[in-house]
Amino acid sequence: MKRAVFLLILPYLPLGAGETVLGAYIFHRHGDRTSKSYPPVQLTPLGESESRSSGAWYRNRYVSGNASAKIHGISPDTVTLSQLSVLSPKDDILQNSAQAFLQGLYPPVGKAALSEQPSTGDVVNGLLDGYQYVPINIVGMSITGVQGEDNMRLQSGSACPNAIESTERYLQSSEYLQHLKDTMNFYQGLLPVYDKTFPTEKASFEHAYGIYDLVHVSTALNDTKISHTELLTAEVQHQLYTLASAHEWGLAFNSSEPVRSMAGSILAGQIVQGLNATLHAPLNKNSTNLLTIQFGAYASFMSFFGLSQATAASEDFYGIVDYDSSFVIELVTDAEVDSLSSSTDTINADDAYIRFLFANGTASETNQPKPFPLFGQQEIRLKWNTFIEEMGKFSITDTAEWCVACGATEGVCSGMGSSDVSTAKADSGGMSNVVAGVIGAVVSLAVATMLAALAVGIGGLRLIKKAPGSSMAIAPKTSQDDMSYEEHV
Ligand SMILES: *[C@@H]1O[C@H](CO)[C@@H](O)[C@H](O)[C@H]1NC(C)=O
Ligand SMILES: *[C@@H]1O[C@H](CO)[C@@H](O)[C@H](O)[C@H]1NC(C)=O
Ligand SMILES: *[C@@H]1O[C@H](CO)[C@@H](O)[C@H](O)[C@H]1NC(C)=O
Ligand SMILES: *[C@@H]1O[C@H](CO)[C@@H](O)[C@H](O)[C@H]1NC(C)=O
Repeated sequence: MKRAVFLLILPYLPLGAGETVLGAYIFHRHGDRTSKSYPPVQLTPLGESESRSSGAWYRNRYVSGNASAKIHGISPDTVTLSQLSVLSPKDDILQNSAQAFLQGLYPPVGKAALSEQPSTGDVVNGLLDGYQYVPINIVGMSITGVQGEDNMRLQSGSACPNAIESTERYLQSSEYLQHLKDTMNFYQGLLPVYDKTFPTEKASFEHAYGIYDLVHVSTALNDTKISHTELLTAEVQHQLYTLASAHEWGLAFNSSEPVRSMAGSILAGQIVQGLNATLHAPLNKNSTNLLTIQFGAYASFMSFFGLSQATAASEDFYGIVDYDSSFVIELVTDAEVDSLSSSTDTINADDAYIRFLFANGTASETNQPKPFPLFGQQEIRLKWNTFIEEMGKFSITDTAEWCVACGATEGVCSGMGSSDVSTAKADSGGMSNVVAGVIGAVVSLAVATMLAALAVGIGGLRLIKKAPGSSMAIAPKTSQDDMSYEEHV
């Protein structure tokens, strides 16, 4: 009965008859925030409530007792921490969004919270009406599965020389230069709107994202950082968005240079490893990780959409995703899960499927995540083995692969050559395109060159050198005290 009702409300998301959801991996952008041009950037109250609403929507789909696509074995009300994994880069906006999201996913449980009666006789109740404390792990930039290196900050090619070089090539490409020329009058014509922040020399396609961000945020907040808003017709605003999207896409993806999409490659590796662990765990082991929510930057969405060919399903994927957007990859099976009860029973990989859903903006009853096919295929529901094979073409899952793809030879990469990678890949079956493309071409790039590139903020990344004169190394782990990467999120 319940299911019938939910199917009516959730037209895009019916579960197949007899289908069971085994796990899910969500990738999520932050909610509304203040403008990047005026740090410190903050998540706004609207942003908080958006992310909480999104969490509540996912709760109704995967978690609550009467969820429409309940994940098999997940705790409905009181969180079992081992079943949940929440990841975010070290970024205030993303982490705050994650906290707000969790308030929707597992709201306070009130009287159901654990309480105790110590020998003193006083009853001690959970704080804040049974608020559920869920740790947010700073591993969004890690390459998982590498012992002792869980906190390596490698996302977005931030320390990846080949990715930085590839991104630089975008800024020299004929496509970029043509846009720069064609849009000069457009940007200069809007100077009265933003010349306090983007004066004449900055009013161009080069700052397409920053300008769009300022205008978008200031319009939404009705603040005084922009003037002459009468110039901002709907058409002009759309143009600002479209140009910013083109610019950011150029930095995030190029089909002939997959290394540019390092952020998407690492994310793909994390998704595969996360869902694979769920799939291979015994069904009735209730400590298995079942649901991962990873927060990350719009640029990572773009990298992933490019690599996974979401763009073949809809041109919309070329655009910057709205605040609080999310995609989810569901792991499902048609197998009879209830008959599998012995402690070692697992689902056969041949019986497993995945489905990709995307919500542009906050997921809600009126803006439900919609399914799209990936990898240029037709089917919405893809066999697990096909998924693994396709993701394997571009995912990066360990440091050795990363070092070779990036042409990085120092720090954690010192002493790692292509032979290490061949071995690593042979173990996990097949070699990814990214790696194949660069094997044998391990370039030793001078760190100084790399830093010079970073210092001018290439690739939506800005290197902030916190301690002048301190030594820099590619190894992000040892250099954390020296510098941090500020990602455009
Ligand atoms: C993509 O890469 C190819 C090959 O390096 C290059 O010719 C082309 O200009 C690049 N396009 C962009 C937009 O960077
Ligand atoms: C926007 O700000 C202006 C000036 O600060 C004010 O006059 C106007 O009423 C505001 N509009 C809204 C919708 O709040
Ligand atoms: C999935 O996990 C199994 C069991 O741990 C492992 O043998 C296999 O190599 C993994 N596959 C991938 C693609 O990571
Ligand atoms: C997201 O929404 C914006 C409008 O807000 C649109 O321009 C863009 O194409 C959409 N992106 C996707 C992937 O649906």
